[in-house]
Amino acid sequence: MKEFDFVVIGSGIAGLSFALKAAKHGSVAVITKRKGSDSNTAWAQGGVACVTSDEDSFDLHIRDTLEAGAGLSDEAVARTIVTEGPERIRELGELGLEFDQREVSGHREPDLGREGGHSKRRVLHVQDVTGLQIEKTLLRELERSPRVELLENHMAVDLITAGKLGFATEDRCLGVYVLNEKTTEVETIRTDRLVLATGGCGKVYLYTTNPDVATGDGVAIAWRAGATIANMEFVQFHPTCLFHAEAKSFLVSEAIRGEGGILRNSRGEDFMERYHPMKSLAPRDIVARAIDAEIKRSGAKCVYLDITHQSPEFLRERFPHIYETCLRFGIDMTKQPIPVVPAAHYQCGGIKTDVNGATTLPGLYAIGEVASTGLHGANRLASNSLLEGLVVAHRACEALVRAQPPAHPARQIELPQWQPGNVQDLDELVVIYHNWDEIRRLMWDYVGIVRTEKRLQRASARLRNLQREIREFYWNFKITVDLLELRNLATVAALIVDSALSRKESRGLHYTLDYPGTDDGHFKRDTLLSRM
Ligand code: SIN
Repeated sequence: MKEFDFVVIGSGIAGLSFALKAAKHGSVAVITKRKGSDSNTAWAQGGVACVTSDEDSFDLHIRDTLEAGAGLSDEAVARTIVTEGPERIRELGELGLEFDQREVSGHREPDLGREGGHSKRRVLHVQDVTGLQIEKTLLRELERSPRVELLENHMAVDLITAGKLGFATEDRCLGVYVLNEKTTEVETIRTDRLVLATGGCGKVYLYTTNPDVATGDGVAIAWRAGATIANMEFVQFHPTCLFHAEAKSFLVSEAIRGEGGILRNSRGEDFMERYHPMKSLAPRDIVARAIDAEIKRSGAKCVYLDITHQSPEFLRERFPHIYETCLRFGIDMTKQPIPVVPAAHYQCGGIKTDVNGATTLPGLYAIGEVASTGLHGANRLASNSLLEGLVVAHRACEALVRAQPPAHPARQIELPQWQPGNVQDLDELVVIYHNWDEIRRLMWDYVGIVRTEKRLQRASARLRNLQREIREFYWNFKITVDLLELRNLATVAALIVDSALSRKESRGLHYTLDYPGTDDGHFKRDTLLSRM
C-alpha cells in the first residue's frame, strides 16, 4: 500500500500547479490515466483572462463574468479569482512562461487577445498554443521536484471513504483505488488530502473540442463517494470546431473572432447581426444557438468563419497552430473561410466546492474544470478557466496545509485491499464501444444545444438501461481503463440529464423549447444533486 501526504488526480493546469505547491509541504502523488501531458489544458488555445492593462479593471472583469454567468455566478468567488489572478500569473512567469508581448511607443507590454463576452482585451496568450506552453512549463518544473511522484497510466477507480468502510465517525476521504494499466492490478493509495483535478466531460457528446481523456471521471468518482454535484446541465458548446470529415475535435479559437473574424452562413451573410449587438463576439451560448438555428433552418452542414481580411503574415504569426492544421486539411484560412460547427467544450458545473476547492466530503478537494466553485454560473466567460485553475489550486494548497489534521489519520486505519472477486476478462470489447457510441450520440441528439422535455425524458430512460448493463460488466469482468471510462461517462451523462430535467426554465447554456423564458422566482439557484 502506498501512502502520500497529498494525492492529486489529473495533470492539467490545476493539478500540476497544486502539486508543485504542495511539494513544499510533503510528499505528493500525481495520478494521471495516460501521459502527464494528456490534459484539456494542453489543448487550450485562447489563453488566460487576467486584468493586466491600465484600460481594464477588476470591476469590469467581474462584471463580464457575472453577465456571462446569467445570474448564477457567485460574485464573491468571481472577485477572489479575478483579483488574485495577477499574482498567480506572475508566478507562472517565474517558472519561465513568457506570454506574447507587443511593442507600444517604445516599450513592451502584454499582447492581449479579445474573446466573446469580454468588454476589454484581457486574454494573455502564447500565440494560439497557450495551454500547451503552460503544460510544458509545469511538467518541466514537476520533473525537478523530488517530492512529487508522477504515476502515468494509472486510473482512479473509486475513493475509499470512512462511510463505505462502515466507520461510525464522520464520513471522509481516506484514499483511492487506482488501476495500474501496465500491471492491470488495482493499487490502494492512502492519504488524508485527496484532490480531484480530472478536468471535464466533453467526450460524453459525439462532437467535442476535448481530448479523449475528458470522460468526466472526477465527477463520477465524487458522486459515487457521496459528494454534492452542482449545475451539470450547463455544458458549454464552443461555437467553432473545425468541420472536416478527418479533423477530430479541432478547436478554432474564439480569439480569431477577437481579431475581427466574421461568422457567415452558406449564403455568405454575416448572420450574427440578426442575433446580438456584439455580433460574432456575442457570448458563446448565444453564438452556438444562433449557429444551430442557421444550420437547422438552411439544412447546411456548417457555417463559416471568415478572417480573410487580415493579412496572411499576421494570421500565420498570431495563429500558427490553427493555420497549419487547417492547411493540412486543405483549407487556407488566409484565402478562404473556415468551415465550423459547434461542439461540446466545457463543463460549467461539477463537484460543488467553495473558493478553496473544499467539497462536501471532508478530506476531498476538487479544482479546475471538475469543480463548480460558483465562478462560471450558467455560462463560463471565455478564458476564465485557466485563471480559475491557477487561483483555486493555490488556495486549496493553503487551505489543506492550514487545516487541522484528522483525529484518526488514514495511516492509522486498516484499509482493505481491492477485491477483484471471481472475474474474467471481458471477451467482447464490442459491447464497450457500442455503449460508448450510443451514449455520445444520444447526448448529442437529445441533450444538446437546444433541449425539450420529451427528448430529455427519452435520454433518461435509455441511460438507465445502459447504466444497468454497464454495472453488470463492472461486477462480472476484470476492469480496464475502457470499462472504467464507460462507467464514468454513463454516470455523468445521467447527471447532466437529471439536472437538465430539474430546471424548468431557460438560462445561460441550458435552453429548452418547453420553458423558453428565465424564471428567477423559482430557478435563480444552483441545481444540487447528491446520493446521500
Ligand atoms: C478558445 O480559444 O476559443 C477557447 C477559449 C476558452 O474556451 O476559454
